[in-house]
Amino acid sequence: MKNTHYNKIRGKKILVTGGLGFVGHNLVMSLVKDYGCKVIVVDDCTNSSESMIDPVRDHVEFHKVSVLDTEHFFPLLDQVQYIFHLACIQIAASSSNPLLDMQVNAQSTLQLLEQIRHHEYPLLERIVYTSSCSVYGSTSHLPLGEDDATHVLSNYAATKLLGEHYTLIYNRNYNIPVSVVRYSNVYGYGQSPRNPYCGVLGKFVHNALTSQPLTVVGDGEQTRDYTFISDAVDATILAAVHPRAYGDVFNVGTGIETSVNKLAALIREYVAGTEVVDVPERDIDNIRRRVVDIEKIHQRLGWVPKVGIQKGIQSTIDWYKTTL
Ligand SMILES: NC(=O)c1ccc[n+]([C@@H]2O[C@H](COP(=O)([O-])OP(=O)(O)OC[C@H]3O[C@@H](n4cnc5c(N)ncnc54)[C@H](O)[C@@H]3O)[C@@H](O)[C@H]2O)c1
Repeated sequence: MKNTHYNKIRGKKILVTGGLGFVGHNLVMSLVKDYGCKVIVVDDCTNSSESMIDPVRDHVEFHKVSVLDTEHFFPLLDQVQYIFHLACIQIAASSSNPLLDMQVNAQSTLQLLEQIRHHEYPLLERIVYTSSCSVYGSTSHLPLGEDDATHVLSNYAATKLLGEHYTLIYNRNYNIPVSVVRYSNVYGYGQSPRNPYCGVLGKFVHNALTSQPLTVVGDGEQTRDYTFISDAVDATILAAVHPRAYGDVFNVGTGIETSVNKLAALIREYVAGTEVVDVPERDIDNIRRRVVDIEKIHQRLGWVPKVGIQKGIQSTIDWYKTTL
């Protein structure tokens, strides 16, 4: 049974930036289908297309607008009760276009907060900023808790952390109602295998289903904490509606480490005949292990992930089979 706080979002008017993206369009679908929300999507289609929201198109007002285009973006904030700010430049593109990365991931957040600070939005209940566990960088201490030090290693991690800081500062200094979630490696249905930024899991599933080998870099013992998309969506909505999420930051993960070798083995169980090729370690693979502590979101908001890696991979494979 779902936490009763979720009921608070039923029928509300919501704005989702980056709402055509992997997490964004899944969030939009849930808001429409599970909660009967009226949703406005702001996305400039940098990394997505309008067809992502086809199944709920009649219930969504879509604006092909950049979050940096304040003239067209800000008028859409009127009457909105919740804002989910997901628009981003992905990690793989962040170093090739560092200025855009800073503008979309951090500056757009500051501009949004400034707008809300200086204008009247009496209906606004919460803004959720979606950050990333990449802000923790490389560390010898695991699992990573929200109060642990951050050691950013990429432009993306730096700008996501800056976005977080602005969000929390505007809460402390101006009482703007915010929450921050730090996702850990989200995967699952709706992540296009053609998207060059889809993670190792997406690439593995795609390769397995198209009879291509899975490429394991180094010894394959690199670990991550993989979060299934429906769990990430649920945690994000809960962070918006829960009174105890106000003004705070929460890891969203599973607390379980999974190695690349384990992912490859699980995929080979479901897609017989899949081959693995080993290639040498690269300089960029600088984070060996990562797993996050999810006690805070569990204790404070009552959230726990529902989908384990086995079931998650199976659902992902089933989805890819019907999509490829
Ligand atoms: N997917 C993950 O594993 C993961 C992990 C950690 C954090 N996050 C965070 O979650 C959020 C969603 O990530 P995602 O995986 O869905 O990414 P995504 O790239 O699939 O979606 C991002 C969306 O933002 C849009 N966008 C880019 N620039 C824009 C602009 N200037 N104006 C409006 N829209 C713009 C893109 O077109 C895209 O639809 C991001 O904030 C990301 O930093 C994701």
